[in-house]
Amino acid sequence: MRLRDKVAIVTGAASGIGRATFDLFLAEGARVAAVDRDGEALAAQCAGRDAAMAIAGDVVDEGFARRAIAEVVARWGRLDAMVTAAGISLGQPALTTELEAWDKVFAVNAKGTFLWAREALRVMEKARSGSIVTIASQLAFAGGRGNAAYVASKGAVVSLTRSIALDYAASGVRCNCVLPGATDTPMLRRAFARNPDPAAAEARSRGRHAMDRFGRPEETARAILFLASDDSPFTTGAMLPVEGGWMVA
Ligand SMILES: NC(=O)c1ccc[n+]([C@@H]2O[C@H](COP(=O)([O-])OP(=O)(O)OC[C@H]3O[C@@H](n4cnc5c(N)ncnc54)[C@H](O)[C@@H]3O)[C@@H](O)[C@H]2O)c1
Repeated sequence: MRLRDKVAIVTGAASGIGRATFDLFLAEGARVAAVDRDGEALAAQCAGRDAAMAIAGDVVDEGFARRAIAEVVARWGRLDAMVTAAGISLGQPALTTELEAWDKVFAVNAKGTFLWAREALRVMEKARSGSIVTIASQLAFAGGRGNAAYVASKGAVVSLTRSIALDYAASGVRCNCVLPGATDTPMLRRAFARNPDPAAAEARSRGRHAMDRFGRPEETARAILFLASDDSPFTTGAMLPVEGGWMVA
């Protein structure tokens, strides 16, 4: 049990990587607050589990972030790990990216990460302990076609992670980032479906990975667990690729 007696918050916990992280953290003994805008899914996955709390809302809402973290600390008395997995991807290269789409993607991916990390820091800095795990993408380093706002927003997540790591290392708070490759979640399936030839897009994407397959959300969750737990006490500001060798392929 690598998270026994720990309290964690996972945003985007109703689907994909966030959901797999929620499940793994519970299995590892944590009490986990699951945050997502999909309240129905959250209620179903938390029902009957004393160690789980469903908190439905929009991660971009500052007041919601404050209230949610206060609720978790009021109920469980502490906050050890914050995982910011909520994210969206809308597709489109720069020329056809409408400002509205740019703002939407940056709101969830960049501002949503910042807000929940900042609110977690208020608790963790006082406790002089805690781990924040952000989720970017290998595309922030390798580049990615046809998704300008998304890739740029993940670059922002990488830089934010480094800033937080540097500013709060002396306070005992670590902040690290996971870089998933294409991972088989509803987000990935939606991305292929947007393509005029979804099967070709899927094959192209799979072939970019040295391992010639997609990641599984459970595999990313294990990397998140490593960074969130006491298994990585001397790791901060790190970018951990979980991308089947995309960047070396
Ligand atoms: N799947 C991939 O290939 C892949 C690759 C690299 C990075 N990522 C990143 O991993 C993270 C998780 O992605 P996923 O593939 O599991 O996606 P997903 O779509 O399966 O799950 C994302 C979850 O976030 C929630 N969410 C989105 N916007 C929200 C908002 N404003 N407020 C509250 N909840 C919100 C959704 O309801 C959903 O439950 C994202 O940050 C994504 O960018 C995914």
